[in-house]
Amino acid sequence: MKRLYFIGIFALLTITTIFIWSKSYYTEQEEAYVILPVEKGTALIPSEKGVFERSEFANDYATMRDDYKGGRSLDTYYDNRAYHGAPPSIPHPIINELTMGGKSCLKCHENGGYVAKFKAFTPVVPHPEKVNCRQCHVPQKTTGLFKAIHSREFPTPSINNEAFIGAPPVIPHQIQLHENCLACHAGPAAPVEIRVLHPERSNCRQCHVLNNKETTDIGDFIR
Ligand code: HEC
Ligand code: HEC
Ligand code: HEC
Ligand code: HEC
Repeated sequence: MKRLYFIGIFALLTITTIFIWSKSYYTEQEEAYVILPVEKGTALIPSEKGVFERSEFANDYATMRDDYKGGRSLDTYYDNRAYHGAPPSIPHPIINELTMGGKSCLKCHENGGYVAKFKAFTPVVPHPEKVNCRQCHVPQKTTGLFKAIHSREFPTPSINNEAFIGAPPVIPHQIQLHENCLACHAGPAAPVEIRVLHPERSNCRQCHVLNNKETTDIGDFIR
């Protein structure tokens, strides 16, 4: 009887040990790898998500940057906008007046490229997911008459705001609708003044900080 009692206790202890050991072993394995939110497809900082969006083309942009000269300037960029941040008008004819755009616009605007018919490089769309293009972009009806509103009469953010020579200039514009940096800052359709010399550096916001505050020059500091 006493023997059976000891065997029973021994068996119970063995089972408990195995149970506890295996549980802690598997729990430990589970926690050894924490899945980052980025890997799950959710962005940690939503405004940062687009920063990496065109990075698969970054090396092409870097190698092609000497091949093309000229192109758009900030003046022509703003000529097509009512004010800073406004959707640019469509400067070319549209085949089907009734479409909202979508795939037919993305054929050219998704990745850009030269269009001989328009004698211009296609600006890449920073927001290909907003497929109802013509909800916001309207065709340009005239370039001659009714040009009283010239965008340059509204203040636009200034460039070359760096703390010292060689420092990364601050981002002078808002981030909303501008998440996808390479769409406007790289490739042959990017305005020359803001065409980036280092499209291959993927994390733009690691070095360029946001500054859309109004600043006024306080003049030289005199002790
Ligand atoms: C055949 C290729 C092609 C198609 C299709 C096309 N575009 Fe364009 N788009 C261009 C080119 C090239 C330019 C640049 C024109 C220029 O700079 O003179 C341009 C310019 C624009 C601009 C001005 C961008 C800026 O920054 O000033 C907008 C807006 C635009 N297109 C919208 C659309 C919409 C909306 C559609 C669909 C209804 C569309 N495009 C279809 C080639 C195309
Ligand atoms: C919700 C409104 C909205 C929709 C829908 C929309 N856009 Fe835009 N788009 C804008 C605004 C606003 C800007 C100007 C961003 C800025 O300069 O601050 C812009 C800018 C652009 C530019 C200029 C980029 C550059 O480098 O100059 C192009 C090209 C463009 N859109 C094409 C398209 C196409 C193609 C579609 C459809 C797939 C589309 N947009 C859908 C609002 C919209
Ligand atoms: C819709 C087009 C567009 C997008 C997208 C965009 N930018 Fe810009 N960026 C501009 C324009 C235009 C300027 C010139 C100042 C102005 O008019 O806002 C500029 C200016 C800048 C400058 C100042 C350049 C200088 O020489 O001082 C920096 C830095 C910059 N942008 C960084 C970024 C970063 C980083 C992103 C991505 C988070 C981005 N931009 C996305 C259009 C864009
Ligand atoms: C490692 C830091 C770093 C990263 C990452 C970085 N930049 Fe820059 N950027 C700089 C510095 C420094 C300058 C000033 C260059 C100079 O004065 O020689 C600059 C200049 C610029 C300019 C002004 C025009 C020029 O090329 O001189 C633009 C526009 C710009 N960067 C955009 C971007 C974009 C878009 C990205 C992401 C693809 C990016 N930067 C990533 C450090 C960085």
